[in-house]
Amino acid sequence: MGVVTDLAPARPTVDGVTAQPLAAPGLAIGPLRLEQPVVLAPMAGVTNAPFRRLCRRFGGGLYVSEMISARALCEGNDKTDGMAAFAPDESPRSLQLVGVDPAYVSRAVEILVGEGRVDHVDLNFGCPARKVTRAGGGGALPWKRRLYASIVAAAVRAAGPVPVTVKLRVGIDDERHTYLDAGRIAEAEGVAAVALHGRTVAQLYSGQADWSHIAALKEAVSSIPVLGNGDIWEASDALAMMEITGCDGVVIGRGCLGRPWLFGELAAALGGRPVPPPPTTAEVVPVMVEHAELLAAWFGPEKGIRELRKHTGWYLKGYPVGSPVRAALNQVRSLAELGDLLGGLPDVALPPGGLRLARGHTQGPQQVAVPAGWLDDPWDDALADASADTTASGG
Ligand SMILES: Cc1cc2nc3c(=O)[nH]c(=O)nc-3n(C[C@H](O)[C@H](O)[C@H](O)COP(=O)(O)O)c2cc1C
Repeated sequence: MGVVTDLAPARPTVDGVTAQPLAAPGLAIGPLRLEQPVVLAPMAGVTNAPFRRLCRRFGGGLYVSEMISARALCEGNDKTDGMAAFAPDESPRSLQLVGVDPAYVSRAVEILVGEGRVDHVDLNFGCPARKVTRAGGGGALPWKRRLYASIVAAAVRAAGPVPVTVKLRVGIDDERHTYLDAGRIAEAEGVAAVALHGRTVAQLYSGQADWSHIAALKEAVSSIPVLGNGDIWEASDALAMMEITGCDGVVIGRGCLGRPWLFGELAAALGGRPVPPPPTTAEVVPVMVEHAELLAAWFGPEKGIRELRKHTGWYLKGYPVGSPVRAALNQVRSLAELGDLLGGLPDVALPPGGLRLARGHTQGPQQVAVPAGWLDDPWDDALADASADTTASGG
């Protein structure tokens, strides 16, 4: 495993280009019209209904679910059904599926669309987790061009009028890039947009996302939007990515962990309005409480507060509040205790550089686990072993 620095460097601009605000561009994904060209990245264990609602309150765009196993959904798994649920006020409802078998993926889409449960389906072809890639899924799948094409085609057919998008990584590793073929195939099969995280599966989250691949994908795919993903930590990074790569929109992952207001900052920046300075802890606290209340209302008080624990460190990342309160918040057991702990926080500002402190995953590189013989021929008719496919949704 490699070591990554805790501080993401400021993104250099290419050839001295300074990113300029774009004139309120919006984004069309098939029939969906988004006010902002901004997507909350699917994040297992994070982008549940409460977090999506909280982020949406700050900005416009698309807010995607955690990844949902197509097979588990077809098998009527209760836990998966819970993860695939949306709050009544969520619109459009965006769900990500992961699967290695065209039949399961197609059936899962039929269920979701037939029961009127979603307005958008994203297909996960980027997951680097061992449990997914060892069955040929996630980021390992686009290597098998024909299998990938058949899954995409099956999903698009089953979705009817509901738009389907794909989310890709650059490839398996630096010798095996897949994204250009995967983007062109997706376009040919009727996908409504394609998103690219500028890292390989082998990289995991190490190093910096290579945005030049986003620019190359934009060149290769001309009739549908291309969305860029990777290392957008502040609103100015989104403007820079769009300016440098020409991409049509941005996908925001770790940058919004503990910072759901980033979506408001993105809306401001994209609309040419000034971005406010980072909130002080006195402004962060009410958002944490709101998040806790949303989680408690969705999952019940016990699970809700347990779910909040992983977010507390992200909310306070970089603020000089001391480690005892961080440790206590990591163990917080009730909304009342949360209120007490937050009530004792000093009101402090975020020191310079705080926005670029890495949050969420930073691990990698890794040895990619794939099925035996998987890498032999990218164009063969291999089917993945559906019985080995993950039935675990979310994190
Ligand atoms: C905690 C966590 C969970 C993730 N889960 C998923 C997932 O379920 N599906 C997916 O396509 N990507 C997943 N990702 C990857 C993100 O969607 C995104 O591509 C990646 O974090 C790079 O973007 P960023 O630099 O903005 O974080 C996850 C990332 C994190 C940090």
